[in-house]
Amino acid sequence: MQDIDRLKLLKELYTYKSIGYDYIEDIKLADNKRQFSSHPLPDDLTALEQIVKNCHLCQLSKTRKNVVFGEGDPNAKLMFIGEGPGANEDSTGKPFVGRAGELLTKIIENVLLLKREDVFIANIVKCRPPGNRVPTDIEVKECIPYLLKQIELIKPSVIVTLGATAYKNLTLDTTSVSKIRGEILDYNGIKLIPTFHPSYLLRNPSAKKFVYFDMKKVKILLENLI
Ligand code: URA
Repeated sequence: MQDIDRLKLLKELYTYKSIGYDYIEDIKLADNKRQFSSHPLPDDLTALEQIVKNCHLCQLSKTRKNVVFGEGDPNAKLMFIGEGPGANEDSTGKPFVGRAGELLTKIIENVLLLKREDVFIANIVKCRPPGNRVPTDIEVKECIPYLLKQIELIKPSVIVTLGATAYKNLTLDTTSVSKIRGEILDYNGIKLIPTFHPSYLLRNPSAKKFVYFDMKKVKILLENLI
């Protein structure tokens, strides 16, 4: 490591310390190279989107109106990962456009001081589970290779998982979100911060302050990228 990188790293560590960080034991998160599908996916986001839009690998494809591939900057430094499309997302083909989406957009704009188009927003499953139920293990197993490929191609420096389904299925760690939220974890060299889902915040507004703290950490991480 060069001196300049060492200094930047040291500055980053002091910044964490100044905002109240403690060292925590490493949590072994899932390996990005998990293989679920025997079919290789393309190394191009537009080509991947075409494949996902024509996907019929699980039963969600039978009830969906639109596939919600995800949207944003294909070179985003920051990626948000939610659970799966709801009714508004299913109708429009866009992620996080309902009430929870409006709240997520406010968080991006007012706390992170970014534009929604500057980040990439995706979900664990790309089609709406009927009645907004949690996606089943089989649905996740068929769909998650698309998300892993998105992460591989976008190469974000920071990932924020929104809620339990996103955290658990991406990392395979079963720690509850209320326990793990706000920790800066290492996910195959990418910094991963779990936080609450915006839908949870709509039901529990008093939890907004925690997401605010978590997003302040994300902001500092983004400002201190080496
Ligand atoms: N909730 C999610 O998890 N994802 C969306 O896209 C919308 C709501």
